[in-house]
Amino acid sequence: IIPMAELNTKEKRLQPFSVFNQLRQTTPVRYDKSRSCWDVFRYEDIHRILKDPTTFSSIRGLAVKDRETILTMDPPRHTQLRGLVNKAFTPKVISDLATRISTITDELLDAVEIKKTMDIVSDLAVPLPVIIIAELLGVPPEDRNLFKKWSDILVKGPDQNTEEEFTQVIAEKEQATHELNDYFVQIVEQRRNEPKEDLISLLLQAEVEGEKLSDKEILGFSILLLAAGNETTTNLITNAVRRVTEDRTLQQQLRGIPELIPGFIEEVLRFYPPIQAIGRVATKDVEIGDFKIKKGQQVISWVASANRDEAKFAEPDSFIVDRKPNAHLSFGFGIHFCLGAPLARLEGQIVIERLMKRFVDIQFVPNSEMMYIQSPFVFGVKQFTVRM
Ligand code: HEM
Repeated sequence: IIPMAELNTKEKRLQPFSVFNQLRQTTPVRYDKSRSCWDVFRYEDIHRILKDPTTFSSIRGLAVKDRETILTMDPPRHTQLRGLVNKAFTPKVISDLATRISTITDELLDAVEIKKTMDIVSDLAVPLPVIIIAELLGVPPEDRNLFKKWSDILVKGPDQNTEEEFTQVIAEKEQATHELNDYFVQIVEQRRNEPKEDLISLLLQAEVEGEKLSDKEILGFSILLLAAGNETTTNLITNAVRRVTEDRTLQQQLRGIPELIPGFIEEVLRFYPPIQAIGRVATKDVEIGDFKIKKGQQVISWVASANRDEAKFAEPDSFIVDRKPNAHLSFGFGIHFCLGAPLARLEGQIVIERLMKRFVDIQFVPNSEMMYIQSPFVFGVKQFTVRM
């Protein structure tokens, strides 16, 4: 979880794409001694890695080791558990949320409209996904500040790379996981006694080939949804707004032709991916290009680079609102393809639709400090003030 040396300035963290373009051309596959991992930058190589879980395992040493979730599992266990959670996380469950997402978005915008200015991050992009996931899981909305605190800690990485800071981040993560566990133990117990229409109740009932999820797995999955679903969607929303403020013509286009919005969100995902990189571990000696990866070595796939690969995308550094096809890798690829992609897309689309409908012009307020998020895998900003 250490950042790449090439991305060590604020400017580069806010606009890393020229760095990726250069690395893809000069060292498409390379070993970084300081981080003890391989970095891979080309679309074709990354596609191959994500497609081959037998050679490139997802069982990797994440900070909190005792947490087993589908994200860090391989087949056959991954296949079984993913089958179970797919049953609860159906397209219908997600599309039924559309009205609720619009209502919450409007409520959040009602609260700031009078000020004519807002911080997209704290006023909209943070609360919306947290409220939706809390409601989906069936936990009380009053607890959403706790949720926010926990999900922030779970995705945080060290900024300065000192041993001391690293130890502190790990300790914080362990503490948050304990608190979350205690919290969900109660909720799961309540739902077992008194099932409702929520995801935890569905997960308690879901069965594949006579097998159910254990309590521990339900806890792990609930925590994974918080960790994987909140900050990512926050950044999709913020990055989408960042994009419309960078291009006023685009903004007017989206206002005039709302049918462009789903394609716009896909292009935002490609252009400004909320997750920049995906980690795997080689299960055997394997070659990528001319390089020999050894069994047990870490391989980091730079999705943010693959999405700008000229071998795959025409004019990769241009933002093309109706780009077709748009096979970006921002939700991953293959068996671990993001479970929450339909939900994240829906939230992104509804937010932009509501913003375009309600405000005639949205402008970035440049004097506000723009700071990147302190995590080597996340692409997003901490604050984004706009006038509307
Ligand atoms: C997996 C990105 C939103 C739940 C993934 C992966 C990526 C990703 C890249 C694959 C990781 C890998 O292969 O190791 C994103 C982005 C999002 C987003 C960019 C927002 C724009 C969500 C949401 C949820 C969610 C809203 C849930 C509510 C998951 C889960 C997995 C996953 C459970 C693991 C799937 C598996 O291992 O089979 N996500 N995600 N994500 N995501 Fe998302």
